[in-house]
Amino acid sequence: MTTSDIRLVRALPEHVDVWMAMRDEPVSRTRMPLEPATRESLLKRLQESTDDLSDPKATSFRWMVELEGRIIGTVAARELSRFQGRIEIGYMLSSAYHGRGLGTRAVSMVLERLFQWPFLHRVWLTTAADNLASQALARKLGFTLEGVMREHYLIEGQRKDQQVWGLLRSEWEGRRSA
Ligand SMILES: CC(C)(COP(=O)(O)OP(=O)(O)OC[C@H]1O[C@@H](n2cnc3c(N)ncnc32)[C@H](O)[C@@H]1OP(=O)(O)O)[C@@H](O)C(=O)NCCC(=O)NCCS
Repeated sequence: MTTSDIRLVRALPEHVDVWMAMRDEPVSRTRMPLEPATRESLLKRLQESTDDLSDPKATSFRWMVELEGRIIGTVAARELSRFQGRIEIGYMLSSAYHGRGLGTRAVSMVLERLFQWPFLHRVWLTTAADNLASQALARKLGFTLEGVMREHYLIEGQRKDQQVWGLLRSEWEGRRSA
């Protein structure tokens, strides 16, 4: 198995249970500011989600990450501002697949798609200050740590600093041509 075996597929209602299970894993619950969600609310989000970047009305997008026919993760992009040329991304993988380069590969595949929009200037993301894996992923893909919002996250009852990371189009294109 190599990282090139993964595919991004459209997020569908049938993915609700695997998504719920991923959200429920300790590594997700302790590193992400996940608000409580019911199966129904996640199902609704999947029913409403799109991966169609050509839809002029859409402002949020979701993909599932598939490896050898199994859904192993998800990457989302939200709060697109066509006017400002920016979008925020988030990602999560089942812990059984962590540490093999698959998260980095999946997020880079999404970035590749997002930067096809000629108007997109910047992609940003946030990480909890203790989420070293996510910070390493962001750094690997060329994101810069831009700031810290102190105790902005409430995660499992604990206040945590939230780091803000940004990647500019020029940086992404520079890395690709390097
Ligand atoms: C963040 C996440 C998607 C990373 O996916 P992954 O496939 O495990 O990451 P990769 O294997 O691509 O590794 C990326 C980098 O992180 C590093 N890394 C992985 N786990 C790490 C850890 N626990 N501590 C420190 N660094 C770590 C890797 O070494 C690699 O850097 P390197 O190539 O320089 O060595 C995954 O850990 C995850 O789903 N976590 C739970 C949900 C979450 O935190 N989502 C992000 C919210 S901001």
